[in-house]
Amino acid sequence: MTLKITVMSTKGGVGKTTQTANLGGILADLGQRVLLVDVDVQPTLSSYFELEQQAEHGLSALITGPQLEDVISHTTIKNLDVIISDDPEGALQNWILHTPDGRVRLKHLLSKFDSEYDFVLIDTQGAVGPLQDAAVLAADMLLSPIPPEILSAREFTRGTLGMLERLQPMTYMGAPVGPLYGLIYRMDRTIDAQRIARELRRESAPSKGQIRILDTVIPSTVAYREAATSRTPVHRWEQRRSGPSASARETMLALVRELFPHLNDVELP
Ligand SMILES: Nc1ncnc2c1ncn2[C@@H]1O[C@H](COP(=O)(O)OP(=O)(O)OP(=O)(O)O)[C@@H](O)[C@H]1O
Ligand SMILES: [Mg+2]
Repeated sequence: MTLKITVMSTKGGVGKTTQTANLGGILADLGQRVLLVDVDVQPTLSSYFELEQQAEHGLSALITGPQLEDVISHTTIKNLDVIISDDPEGALQNWILHTPDGRVRLKHLLSKFDSEYDFVLIDTQGAVGPLQDAAVLAADMLLSPIPPEILSAREFTRGTLGMLERLQPMTYMGAPVGPLYGLIYRMDRTIDAQRIARELRRESAPSKGQIRILDTVIPSTVAYREAATSRTPVHRWEQRRSGPSASARETMLALVRELFPHLNDVELP
């Protein structure tokens, strides 16, 4: 069975692309067949890893065509493929808005690749719109990085949860939404960050699993930026770390084990 995860937030710059790329990288190294899908006009995920072979088409052709041949590019990492963003003018938003089945097309088209992948990870742009809706509706679960600072925490409560509520009626159209996992992201050691992280956990508790703040926390460290510069998954970049804090390899592995307990026995090479 293919698990589809959309990494989303109604706020920009929270760590979506970095998280999508690194999660894809570690899942691929765990032997899972992974497809990344870049649903952002700015093709950051498309160029995150080096491509061994670039397909002629990308997301826009897939959705509007629908073009199913030659839309999958291969990265230099084994088991890791990507559907690149090919919509520099941002025409796809409007196209989806004005097409009757626009918002559910991505869901139906991606299911055509189900036999080829164990995981499909969808990166989105940090703004509400038809394209973000399409990405949310395509997913079995949602992952939302939340930097523990007050503006991001408020935007999570207001924007992200508001969007979930707005899309809830799609359940009756065969496109259920959620569950949503909040990932405290770029955590630092300040008392303020710790207080906000606690608050987020407390506020999500009454949702009974529809919204869960994960136990795993991604720290703010330079390793994530350096790994991005080197176009390397962060678990390969920082395998060990001196001092008490966990290495990126340990953190990313803990995240995978928490999100996907069925991979508990699979080891990294
Ligand atoms: N764990 C981390 N620690 C420190 N910096 C990080 C970490 N993860 C990502 N960053 C940096 O944070 C910035 C934003 O990350 P990223 O581009 O992944 O966010 P985004 O949500 O995809 O943004 P956008 O909404 O523009 O698509 C980048 O400069 C990235 O290198
Ligand atoms: Mg991004």
